[in-house]
Amino acid sequence: MTDPDPAWDPWTDQDYLRESQYKTDVNLSARQSVYAYQQPRIDLARATLSLAALGGAEVVADVGCGNGRYLAELARRGHAGPVLGADMSPGMLLAARSGAPRASLMVADAMALPVRDAATGLTLAMHMLYHVPDADRAVRELRRITRPGGQVIVGLNGTDHLRELRALITKALASLGRPPVRPREQLSLDAGEQLLRSQFTSVTRHDFEGQLRVPDAEPIAAYVRSRVPDAGPLVPAVLGALPA
Ligand SMILES: C[S@@+](CC[C@H](N)C(=O)[O-])C[C@H]1O[C@@H](n2cnc3c(N)ncnc32)[C@H](O)[C@@H]1O
Repeated sequence: MTDPDPAWDPWTDQDYLRESQYKTDVNLSARQSVYAYQQPRIDLARATLSLAALGGAEVVADVGCGNGRYLAELARRGHAGPVLGADMSPGMLLAARSGAPRASLMVADAMALPVRDAATGLTLAMHMLYHVPDADRAVRELRRITRPGGQVIVGLNGTDHLRELRALITKALASLGRPPVRPREQLSLDAGEQLLRSQFTSVTRHDFEGQLRVPDAEPIAAYVRSRVPDAGPLVPAVLGALPA
């Protein structure tokens, strides 16, 4: 096994994301699972769609829909309007289907959405803009497909998101003589807010704060495997560095 080129950016390498990281929803599911230990528990799909205060008939597009948490929540609410899930990974759309039987699903790049202007009343881009090589272009697309007076909701992570877990992974990588993972995501919550303010006249920021208190090692191991390609010996190194 060789370590990846230090210049390689796994956050935005679209081929890696499509063909490996998000080929199926196994990695995303592992990361979603750790939030079962969040205190206070925040169901982000419910909280986000409650913020949108939909009437029920709107056209909704979920860009970078992944395995369909938000599409499933729309279905659970009985949203009657047309729902579109778009993702660049066919494997993720496959995973999204069971929770959203009525939604139209399409393979699409957020930077060039095959959707007409002003088509939606609500456009979501949840925890995906940091993967897009040109986030500015993607935000212009979100704006273009949303009707005037509609809403765009973007989800991003704060700079201290999972800070302790990331520090553990960095320390364990160093102990194995491997290069650190990138310390920060391509697009943080603060940077994303600035980007949105540059393109929209009205932006409201909602911070959801919580802590993860994970009672045993397996969810941490699953998280590490989901984040680091060729995690191999990294997993025992991280688990060995966990506080007693
Ligand atoms: C962290 S997951 C988030 C999934 C979902 N939005 C959620 O919050 O549960 C990121 C998703 O963005 C997708 N993605 C990454 N780059 C993309 C792009 N350029 N266009 C469309 N989807 C993209 C990935 O395939 C993946 O499904």
